[in-house]
Amino acid sequence: MTRKILLMGNWKMNHTIEEAIDFCEKIKEEGLVRQGKSRGILLGVAPSYLSLQQVKRHAHGLIVAAQDCHYEDHGAYTSNVSIPMLEEVGVNWSIIGHSEKRTYEGETSFTCNRKIRALVAHDFHVVYCVGETLKEYEAGLTKDVVEEQIRTGLMHLTKEDIANVVIAYEPVWSIGTGKNASAEIAEDICHFIRTLIEEQFGKVAAGKILILYGGSVKPNNIHEYISQEDVDGALVGGASLKSESFKELLVNCY
Ligand code: PGA
Repeated sequence: MTRKILLMGNWKMNHTIEEAIDFCEKIKEEGLVRQGKSRGILLGVAPSYLSLQQVKRHAHGLIVAAQDCHYEDHGAYTSNVSIPMLEEVGVNWSIIGHSEKRTYEGETSFTCNRKIRALVAHDFHVVYCVGETLKEYEAGLTKDVVEEQIRTGLMHLTKEDIANVVIAYEPVWSIGTGKNASAEIAEDICHFIRTLIEEQFGKVAAGKILILYGGSVKPNNIHEYISQEDVDGALVGGASLKSESFKELLVNCY
């Protein structure tokens, strides 16, 4: 089965609204979305909440994702943003469970599950992040950790729901460190994730689901990752911030 490739830029707490619009305009001038599409490559960015509305207006075909959301539609949850608020500005994608949310804000696979179930109920697409810490990696626990994150994060989802989910395998020790996991490790774990999806949701779902690698992906190493059988793209932080580098990421995919 040929799956599409997805390149998703996670801007984290970077780019003012003005900088975000500037990025979008450069992507448009270069015709990158069209170039990607003609080769089966989807391009997306996840800006800050504040920039979402403007980025959506200037997206010109880029997928626009939130970096998180709340699982309730409204209520007393200071500082949070709900799914209907995202819908109002035309956004229907969200990253969930990024390791920076797990590490700094105590996000658990259980809360991720509540968010993912709420998102798919609103017909959103989800990029669900999983991955082990350095300590867990060194203790040989990668697969145990990832399995728990997948099983808990995706519990109670149906086969229809899973069609809206993308998984991003991001070893925490490789994020923003320049110590990217080897393509072999990425393939091993992405393949493992696909087998877990097959157990839980069946062969068809497992064949269709996009599984990304993330962690120090750069223009000079992206090709190695996406050449792997079970790696269907990348979630990219630092190298997604500048349009020039984003363009190189795309061009180096083919
Ligand atoms: P990085 O971040 O590419 O800067 O390592 C990846 C991520 O956190 O998604």
